[in-house]
Amino acid sequence: MPANSKFEKTATGAAWWQTGVIYQIYPRSFQDTDGDGIGDLNGIATRLSHLVELGVDAIWLSPIFASSMADFGYDVADHCAIDPIFGTMDDFGRLLAKAHGAGLRLILDFVPNHTSDQHPWFLESRSSRSSPKRDWYIWRDPRPDGAPPNNWTSEFGGSAWSFDEATGQYYYHAYLSAQPDLNWRHPEVRTAMLNVLRFWFSRGVDGFRVDAIHHLLEDRQFRDNPVNPDWRKGMSPARRLIRLHTMDQPEVHDAIAAMRQVADEFGDRLMIGEAYLPIDRLMAYYGVDLTGFHLPFNFHLISTAWNPEAIAHLIRDYEAALPPGGWPNWVLGNHDRSRVASRLGPEQARIAAMLLLTLRGTPTIYQGEEIGMQDVPIAPEQVQDPWERNVPGLGLGRDPVRTPMPWSADMDGGFTTGKPWLPIDMSATAPVWRQRTDPASSLSLYQRLLRLRRAEPALSRGSYVEVWHDHSVLVYERQYDGRRLQIALNMSAVIQALPPGLPASRTLLSSAVIDAGDRAASDSDRLLQPHEGRIGEIGT
Ligand code: GLC
Repeated sequence: MPANSKFEKTATGAAWWQTGVIYQIYPRSFQDTDGDGIGDLNGIATRLSHLVELGVDAIWLSPIFASSMADFGYDVADHCAIDPIFGTMDDFGRLLAKAHGAGLRLILDFVPNHTSDQHPWFLESRSSRSSPKRDWYIWRDPRPDGAPPNNWTSEFGGSAWSFDEATGQYYYHAYLSAQPDLNWRHPEVRTAMLNVLRFWFSRGVDGFRVDAIHHLLEDRQFRDNPVNPDWRKGMSPARRLIRLHTMDQPEVHDAIAAMRQVADEFGDRLMIGEAYLPIDRLMAYYGVDLTGFHLPFNFHLISTAWNPEAIAHLIRDYEAALPPGGWPNWVLGNHDRSRVASRLGPEQARIAAMLLLTLRGTPTIYQGEEIGMQDVPIAPEQVQDPWERNVPGLGLGRDPVRTPMPWSADMDGGFTTGKPWLPIDMSATAPVWRQRTDPASSLSLYQRLLRLRRAEPALSRGSYVEVWHDHSVLVYERQYDGRRLQIALNMSAVIQALPPGLPASRTLLSSAVIDAGDRAASDSDRLLQPHEGRIGEIGT
């Protein structure tokens, strides 16, 4: 626990990451301070007040380490150095101290599956077949005809094998050829990577989001992946195969337990895992007796159809599948997926915010969600994402969801004095400064929701009780210590009436009505305006 009394005071018996709300920062696009058009650590430090006003508890930074930037930081060239684009180790120390001083925990991104091809480990590994680090990566001989060792494909298009002329072998990469996969079966790799965690934990970092964990290990026998009969034109080429032998291998859980043990050496630290998996397979990532991740990211709100039946089923299935004591979590978006306001439209994005912040479990907000940011169209000549470059035109590129934050009405939104690395949308989304004073804004809704969540243990810690849904409305309760909160979400564009059998409630917060604090329980409380979400207390 960082030496900071702010954290001690809020202790309630639950861990900080159980009652807390996490906010993901994509550092390249948060705030620039040196005019190069790319966000930096000093920029994050200058904008912490936004996060404190918003009311979140922890920030997770996408990678800030020395990188060749082939995949914008997810290709680490030195795990224990800050990339000069983002600043220096001193800048990092100041940011960490400032965040802790403001009551915000700081979570970093750990990328264990692969490194940059410019990492000294890989340079050494590829230098010769007899290099002491040769087996730190995954090298295989060509097939007799010179072809790659098997049919495995890269997530970003093409074969997952690249040929190294000098040493006559192929190396494996689940992503870009500039991101060679580490060999986690090698004990020295494990030790070296676990020491990376120790390096940052001992500097006071509060946790890690662990990248692409389901890719960590591959089949020992290098068997071909089977063909996916459900693949259709327009889908990612990587989906042509079922990733049976390249993803979610049983041995991954040993490696996760080892990471978790390191976190536990430091006490009170958080480990989150990134794995896009069906609910039943995801649960294994909590580990045997909860010795794995505290929070295996639950991305299912991103992919589930947006209607009350589907969402109610998702919540039920997820809650039912959790291992005993396993803590839930929910996510609406991140730097890899289309933004929620674009997927659902601005009105339903408000309902999504209410859902995210009233479900049981730790919510993660992706930067810009709080102001209703939308995907920004990227012209071909503006493309930055290597995935879009490799596999153009299928809408796989992630630039639209990574555009910089519009803070003010200044040119380029107050994000930079230079040329922003991706275009800034100044039309679809009102900038932060304008939303701050508009009680009807998305930002104001997020602030009210986060304030209520902090004030109501029923929301942060209470049980989830499924109540009722039809084709348009979803109703559930959160209960804690005798207190009952009813959440009613109108997922349609027309007025809806709640059924007479539901208990009456007094409105505490409405996404449609700004000042609803003392609205008495009456017939009008049984009506939900189009796209209205309401949180009410049920009298005892
Ligand atoms: C994760 C990251 C993504 C990155 C990939 C490879 O899925 O979220 O941005 O490209 O891993 O590291």
